[in-house]
Amino acid sequence: MKIGILSSGGDCPGINAAIHGLAKVAMLHYGMEVVGIRNGFQGLLSNDFFVLDEKIIAGILNLGGTILGTSREKPFRKSLSLEASDKPRQIIANYQAMGFDAIACIGGNGTQKTAYQLSLLGLNIISIPKTIDNDIWGTDICFGFTSAVNIATEAIDRLHSTASAHKRVMLVEFMGHHAGWITLYAGMAGGADIILIPEQAFDLDSIVQEILRRVSQGKSYIIVAMAEGIDGVKTKGGAASLSQFIEEQTGIETRETVLGYVQRGGNPSPYDRNLATRLAGHAAELISKRSFASMVCLKGDTISSIPLSEVAGKTKLVQANHDLILQGKRMGVFFGASH
Ligand code: F6P
Repeated sequence: MKIGILSSGGDCPGINAAIHGLAKVAMLHYGMEVVGIRNGFQGLLSNDFFVLDEKIIAGILNLGGTILGTSREKPFRKSLSLEASDKPRQIIANYQAMGFDAIACIGGNGTQKTAYQLSLLGLNIISIPKTIDNDIWGTDICFGFTSAVNIATEAIDRLHSTASAHKRVMLVEFMGHHAGWITLYAGMAGGADIILIPEQAFDLDSIVQEILRRVSQGKSYIIVAMAEGIDGVKTKGGAASLSQFIEEQTGIETRETVLGYVQRGGNPSPYDRNLATRLAGHAAELISKRSFASMVCLKGDTISSIPLSEVAGKTKLVQANHDLILQGKRMGVFFGASH
């Protein structure tokens, strides 16, 4: 068989481990020919391919980023231009001309949707979930997530000492798009006092009251972990404006840190490398069995797969009864509202 591999959407640690695992299992175990597609769906549109061999993938297991490159190209995105509406047709033509038997798409929510749409048009697709946001429906954990949580937690660890020295409120903003997974996991692991995630309603007055209450009880500094996606904050100036508001209302010196893209960069954690390897190996197996139109996933500690039709268009958010929220509340962590 001849297969193509692409990575699409925002990069994350572990994509190269997935490329490495898939290409190696496909070549060495199943005797497949493996082609790399550059820059996600953009490469499928522009015939930007190169043959992957053992030499090219040697040593990439532990590297961040993606050797294939990535883009946020969405060929099905509605557009008034004729050129845009021709994109799916162009992709099918290029796929056929290359003689692909299947394509493996490594990506996040947007990629799962595009992969599903391409499968409806008759392309043989297997997808592999990746994102630091951990918000892909149908898999318990996405690779990239634990690497990002490690970095986010280290940031909180480092903020404790400087916050303590100055007796400040320290606000730290994490990525996650519309989901609060990174903020919840890093916030709890880093011992934040207040955790604000999009899935939990918050009100500003309660946050101010909570800070004042903690200080009146002897707490000398406060760590607030906030997700980039919390309601309205982005449009109102993000962490900087929330920080200013807290300082004005509490009278306590407040500083903000926006962690940004360092959460996506660097080497994957060992957990993410192994998760990516397991998912990728399973993807090669499904392709060898000509079982397509599904996404490989982790359920408990088992790797399996789920039809793309069940994944496309959905987002996995933090549930209110998540154990970390439950235990956090019992331990006195404040999630943004007093009710
Ligand atoms: O999906 C990963 C992510 O880093 C999100 O957490 C963030 O909202 C978004 O990508 C940023 O996107 P871009 O790379 O296009 O700036």
